[in-house]
Amino acid sequence: MTNPAVLITGATGGLGRATAQELARRGYSLVLGGRRREALESECRALESRFGARARPWVAELANLEEVRAAARELDGLPLRGIVANAGVTTTRDVRSADGYELTFAVNVLAHQLLLCLLEGQLVQGARVVIISSGVHEPGNKLARRAGIPVPRWVGAHNLARPDAAAPADRLPPGPQRYSTSKLGNVLQARALQARLRARGRDVDVFAVDPGLMVDTELARELPAPLRLLFRAVGRLATPFVDNMRLSRVSARHVAALIDAPQWSGRGFAYLDGDRVKPPSSDALRDELADALWRDANELVALRDDDCALPRA
Ligand SMILES: NC(=O)c1ccc[n+]([C@@H]2O[C@H](COP(=O)([O-])OP(=O)(O)OC[C@H]3O[C@@H](n4cnc5c(N)ncnc54)[C@H](OP(=O)(O)O)[C@@H]3O)[C@@H](O)[C@H]2O)c1
Repeated sequence: MTNPAVLITGATGGLGRATAQELARRGYSLVLGGRRREALESECRALESRFGARARPWVAELANLEEVRAAARELDGLPLRGIVANAGVTTTRDVRSADGYELTFAVNVLAHQLLLCLLEGQLVQGARVVIISSGVHEPGNKLARRAGIPVPRWVGAHNLARPDAAAPADRLPPGPQRYSTSKLGNVLQARALQARLRARGRDVDVFAVDPGLMVDTELARELPAPLRLLFRAVGRLATPFVDNMRLSRVSARHVAALIDAPQWSGRGFAYLDGDRVKPPSSDALRDELADALWRDANELVALRDDDCALPRA
């Protein structure tokens, strides 16, 4: 693989898989991230036969930071045109990662923090980073509130990672508020990354994206099968008529354009609802939260200064 490549996490399904197809169609070389080697290899073969694309699997369980670190080393020296930090989970259960961190925060925020820091030195001039957030982080998002997803509550990275050690007032209950808060974390993370890249004179643009409610992915995998089928069927009918609902192939075109389209070059951080720039939530615009997240997330993933070319906050 000699051309700068685009790394996509969570490329075995949903938005990540659709984005890989869209970027392959546009001629990009790809690194497909996921935890299931066979599924990744089969995706790579499909992209090669369908689009003539060069694609290689990148296997890492994101809920295990040692695996992420080891897998990042396999990419040493590979020039990157872009990173799409897409993999994400939501769960109603109270699950811990291999490192003992709350699973939602561990996968959605911490694993990507480690990955972005370890790989940022390989981003070529003009590269783009797209971090997949969600409109559920916006307090005014009616669709999210109707779906029963609470407004995020930022209680700090340490308390989010280790709810058992948090004071009761700083402990989020298991369930969807942890998800919406992790997606606020993704916007803060994107802003912090952009600020640090700019401070170092790096020509790399960082975006946070709300892909919209996509009923054709597996994010709601914990719903019982009949309910999931119903959700999908009704959702597909509703999608064309509801603002902020999209099928994954449409959202994938928006994400691919952020990697690809010249209009974004040198733009610097933006938050997008699909292909429309808009302000993220007011919490997401608080610099002190972005700086604290950056510092605390680096502590939680045990980044040493020589791991990460980007200075701590
Ligand atoms: N669906 C929506 O309505 C919606 C709305 C707004 C934002 N989003 C965001 O969009 C992104 C993609 O979600 P999606 O809807 O496409 O979900 P999805 O269909 O469930 O796909 C998630 C991807 O992430 C991977 N993944 C999950 N946990 C992982 C782990 N521990 N280690 C490695 N990979 C892991 C999955 O791998 P496996 O195939 O192995 O499980 C899969 O490839 C997420 O960040 C999500 O928060 C989704």
